[in-house]
Formats: sequence, structure tokens, C-alpha cells
Amino acid sequence: MQKLPPAPATIAEFARVLRAGGLVVFPTETVYGLGADATSSEAVLAIYETKGRPRFNPLIVHCSGLPMAESLAEFSPLARRLATLWPGPLTLVLPKKLGAPLSDLVTAGLDSVGIRIPAHPLALELIALAGRPLAAPSANPSGRLSPTTVGQVLAGLGAKVPVLDGGPCLAGLESTILKVDGDKVIQLRAGALPRAELESLINRPIPTSQSNGAIVSPGMMASHYAPRAQLRLDVTVPTIGEGYLAFGTAPQTYGGPLRNLSATGDLREAARNLFAMLHDLDAAGVASIAVAPIPHTGLGEAINDRLARAAAPR
Ligand code: TXA
Ligand code: MG
Repeated sequence: MQKLPPAPATIAEFARVLRAGGLVVFPTETVYGLGADATSSEAVLAIYETKGRPRFNPLIVHCSGLPMAESLAEFSPLARRLATLWPGPLTLVLPKKLGAPLSDLVTAGLDSVGIRIPAHPLALELIALAGRPLAAPSANPSGRLSPTTVGQVLAGLGAKVPVLDGGPCLAGLESTILKVDGDKVIQLRAGALPRAELESLINRPIPTSQSNGAIVSPGMMASHYAPRAQLRLDVTVPTIGEGYLAFGTAPQTYGGPLRNLSATGDLREAARNLFAMLHDLDAAGVASIAVAPIPHTGLGEAINDRLARAAAPR
């Protein structure tokens, strides 16, 4: 029987695993990431295999600072302005720099690359110590819910990959993805940074991508982020026995598993709780989960986007 090496105890040891082409799970402010050296095709291939991810879906490259990011992508003045929000829950899809030392598996053969500098001290230290950009999708089996705690990582991936514990993720929702090409910008994915905040920074509206058949952001397939249970959205009166994900006022008594995204109707709190509570209700073994209506303003755009995907037929 093959003996597994001992689990790394320090960040320096996690960094060594990465430099040797291994995988590690690390915390970010959005969700936990399954990271590998983005310059090594062998290492990146292991991400796709571990997640069971379709090969055509490109990965976000995580950097420790702007110099690393600038070695990989071309920054227009508009991109530079948006990059002032780093470190933070924002991914910029930019033209890949000629000769950037990135495995083609990271970009799935596209001539653009998704970059972000995460706002988590452990993530930044890990990337800096590894001295390599890290390709990292969310640390869940492909198509399943993104993990916001170590417990959820272990429930999804098992103990295959060492996990750097950073506690529960603060934002709880994946990064907002913008594609920036010169002076043009579109939002590919709603996320933890509300569109209105981005628009006020650059002082203009940001259109969302319309799916016109072409894969602009392959991860934006209709069915994604799926729990096992069937989801019913915009439900004010749940059926007895199904799970209920409330928002704001919840029923006093309810004959099934109940979670409340935010009793005070706070969208930030709701975003942080979303995946963890869906995980909980799913783990209760119900056949369906009813979800209360969530406002579409601010972070509500991203929350409703994830819910719609989780409810999509598969
Ligand atoms: O918050 C996050 O973004 C988390 C943490 C770990 O950073 N990561 C994450 O990665 O959500 P993932 O792999 O689950 O989603 C990455 C998304 C996918 O929808 C993918 O298609 C898109 O980014 N993407 C990456 N590179 C792209 C590119 N060059 N062009 C278009 N879309 C791209
Ligand atoms: Mg994901």
C-alpha cells in the first residue's frame, strides 16, 4: 500500500508541496481554492482530475501582488483602475501576456487569462512563499457547491489533498469576474463584489455578458453549484417536509429542516451563509429545498445567480 506523506504543518511546507507540483487546498476571502502551480501542466492536470472538471473550463490564476500579475497579463489603463480593488474578491480576465509562463491547461487554450489577488493573509503568504502563481478553482467536485469551511472541503474532496485551515470564508461567494479588453468591460459572473461598487469606481455602467452561444466564461453553464436536493425558488410558503432556506422573517414553527440566510435581511450575511446553509439542508437528506425570495439589489445579484444555477435542471 502506498504510504501518504505526513500532512504539512506550516505554510512553508504547504509552499514546498506546491513547488514540487502537488495540490493544496487554501483559504481565500471568497471560498476555499484547490491550488496548484499555474506554470506546471502536470500540476494543473491534477486539479482537473481531482475535481472531475471538464477540460475546457479555464482556471483563475491567483497572484501575491501586482508584479506577479503583470508578468502574466496585459493591463490597460481601465484594468489598472479596477486592479486598485486588489487584494479582493474580483477576477479580471485580461489578454494573456506573450510568453507568460502559464500552462495552456490553465487558460484552456484561450488567449485571455483570469487573474486575482485574494484578500486573505494565508493565501497571500502561501503564494509568495511558493513564488509561483497558483491556479485554483473552488475546492469542490465539479458542479457541486463551493466550500466555505474546511468541513465542507473534506465532505466534498475527502482527505486526498492537504488543507490549510483559515476558518470560515468571510465573503462566502465566489469573486466577481470582469472581462477587460482595452477600454471595454463586461461582467462575466456576478460575485462577492457588487456590480454597483465597480461601476462607481470606473464611473460607467458595466454590462453583463449575454450568452450568445460562444463560451465567454465556460463556468457560466446553466447548471452549476448544484446541491443534491431539488431547489424551488421564490417560495413564501414551503411544503411541510422540504428544507426551507429563509431570508428575513422565518416561520415560527416549521415541519422540516430550516435555515435563515439572515434574520435581519442583511445581504452580506446572506452571501456568507448561502453555500454553508445549502450544504446543511442538503446534508439533512431532504428531496427538495424551498428558498425564500431574495432582493436583486447589491449582493443579491450574485446570490440570485447562484440560486438560479443551483435550481437549473441537470
Ligand atoms: O472566488 C473565486 O473566484 C474562487 C476562489 C478560489 O478564488 N475561484 C473560483 O474558481 O470560483 P472557479 O474555477 O470555480 O471559477 C472560475 C471561473 C469559471 O467560470 C471560468 O470559466 C472563468 O472563471 N474563467 C477563468 N478564466 C477565464 C478566461 N480566460 N476567460 C473567461 N472565463 C474565465
Ligand atoms: Mg467553482
